[in-house]
Amino acid sequence: MPFVTLREVLADAERGSYAVGAFNTNNMEIVQAIVEAAEEERAPVILQASQGALKYAGIRYITAIVAAAVESSSIPVVLHLDHGTSFEQTMLCLKHGFTSVMFDGSKYSLDENIAATRKVVDVAHAMGFSVEGELGKIGGTEDDISVDERDALFTDPGEAERFVRESGVDALAVAIGTAHGTYKGEPKLDFNRLDTINKIVDIPIVLHGASGVPADSVRRAIELGVRKINIDTELRLAFTRGVQQVVQNNPGEYDPRKIIGPAKEEMKAIIKGKMRLFGCSGKA
Ligand code: G3H
Ligand code: ZN
Repeated sequence: MPFVTLREVLADAERGSYAVGAFNTNNMEIVQAIVEAAEEERAPVILQASQGALKYAGIRYITAIVAAAVESSSIPVVLHLDHGTSFEQTMLCLKHGFTSVMFDGSKYSLDENIAATRKVVDVAHAMGFSVEGELGKIGGTEDDISVDERDALFTDPGEAERFVRESGVDALAVAIGTAHGTYKGEPKLDFNRLDTINKIVDIPIVLHGASGVPADSVRRAIELGVRKINIDTELRLAFTRGVQQVVQNNPGEYDPRKIIGPAKEEMKAIIKGKMRLFGCSGKA
């Protein structure tokens, strides 16, 4: 099945009242784990690469590996840039085969964020691709982007209405209490704020920093309009757990395939569990 856009998979998710998992990838094993899990679950899926992933693997490797995985699959796959921070970078991704980009202008003022996001939207839409915008500041650290938890600013519903109307984005990432990375305690999500934003804004809402968010909170967030859920940290932890187990149990092992192979299975188990929780299993 060919690549699809974020707009298409999220429109289906809206009609079916479920969310689609967006999983971060950096290498071949992670791509295979995501696509195989999606195939086995018959779930639409979003593979996303951050700036850190593109720096690590190179844009050509990421797009080629994902294209190879998609070629032999029969489920809808979106290839999405996660937390893009420049116009040039978003355009480069679209040129290389991404079908969707996130422009993260959350470090700017509202006016600057709208203007910079609009610029990306105008070109991406003209080419038939989708754009995710962000309003408010999501705490924690992801690759190069770090926001001190005290400075994490929740999304203002009134600003969200204006941001969506004036920027023209297809999906909106909100800050409602989640954070990138591992949580120290249990994350408390501001559901009243999410409810208000969902009533004001008529596009799908994106939940970042979803690793470690309890299942009940995830279900509630989906009831309140979240249609794309980002998972990175839990895949990193699964990968590391898999590798550590092999290395600890077989210190003499030196075949990379035997060291990394089990990590792929650990990641697949996590991804399938998330797809069932998000309600997207069986929807492809
Ligand atoms: O953009 C990616 C995500 O927001 C991932 O967050 O590492 O907490 O799963 P996470
Ligand atoms: Zn994020």
